[in-house]
Amino acid sequence: MTIRAKIVGTGSCVPEKVLTNKDLEKIIDTSDEWITTRTGIKERHIVEQGENNSDLAVGAARAALKMATISPDDLGLIIVGTLSPDMPMPSVACLVQQALGAKKAGAMDVSATCSGFLYGLSIADKFVRSEPDMKVLVIGSEVLSRRTNWRDRTTCVLFADGAGAAVVTGGEGERGIVSTCLHADGTLWELLTIRGLGTAHPVDASILEKGWQYIEMQGRDVFKHAVKALESVALEAVDASGWSMEEIDLLIAHQANIRILEHLRERLSLPRDKVFINIHKYGNTSAASIPIALDEANRQGRLMAGDKVLLVSFGGGFTWAGVTMSW
Ligand code: ACO
Repeated sequence: MTIRAKIVGTGSCVPEKVLTNKDLEKIIDTSDEWITTRTGIKERHIVEQGENNSDLAVGAARAALKMATISPDDLGLIIVGTLSPDMPMPSVACLVQQALGAKKAGAMDVSATCSGFLYGLSIADKFVRSEPDMKVLVIGSEVLSRRTNWRDRTTCVLFADGAGAAVVTGGEGERGIVSTCLHADGTLWELLTIRGLGTAHPVDASILEKGWQYIEMQGRDVFKHAVKALESVALEAVDASGWSMEEIDLLIAHQANIRILEHLRERLSLPRDKVFINIHKYGNTSAASIPIALDEANRQGRLMAGDKVLLVSFGGGFTWAGVTMSW
């Protein structure tokens, strides 16, 4: 008898406020044409004053629980992948646990940048396969607009806010998560970092002056590593499932840059209709990008029972991950 961890509900939540490329043209020296051709992004959602990461996470969680017809009381664990928590302590997961009233759930954040959701899903997979009745809420949620230097045109056009969630539980049969592959390379951490406001460089005037409270990225280097890592983890995850790439029905990759997605599609020889893309609407929402895309694909009817789905991510750390599932 095969027990697999299945996604039984998805949800997402983005701030109402939309910032278009045209809006950005008024703030910094950029153009809609540059942003669109270099990144594929047309617009992104940005929080307003008083709106926080945990608010978006709760919105996504409620939508996923509703689809799953599962009560917060039934949750055994809440995992939030994020690099932009409301505060260092408590975790976003505890704030979600409180807001949902999920009294029986443990709660923790996972710090794996853009791979946070897939790391969380992998943890949920292990719990659920050893305790099939357990219900785990996995969320990816970010407020990157508050970690972005709005005077740095090389990063501020990319990053944005949002949250996505999935409810995972066990079941008999072939449907569910088939393989999980997690990777990291800490030697390259300086290529993509927020240096300040941790305990190594706490708040003081010199840190703020240097802009260490913001995302710093060596874009070209990150790009090169991202395409290699995404390709290799995609092949690894599909191979670990005993599938071939031709059998994949839908690839959902971290929405970092349309050129990365196109490069990956070509390397994997996948047709365009098998690669989900929504970066034009949301920008790079780090840990939230895959669960937002998964929820959109699900609600658009792009996922049929038994479809072979491949999820891949890459982000700061570096971290990268791949998950396959039979939907
Ligand atoms: N508008 C106009 N011009 C710009 C802008 C802008 N917003 N940003 C940079 N430029 C200019 C640069 O100044 C440079 O000008 P120069 O040639 O006169 O010096 C020129 O455009 C080219 O700059 P590059 O940085 O070389 O541009 P590139 O084509 O590499 O695109 C980008 C930059 C989009 C950041 C790309 O490198 C990229 O997507 N990298 C990967 C990012 C990524 O995948 N991150 C994933 C992880 S995210 C996470 O973990 C949170």
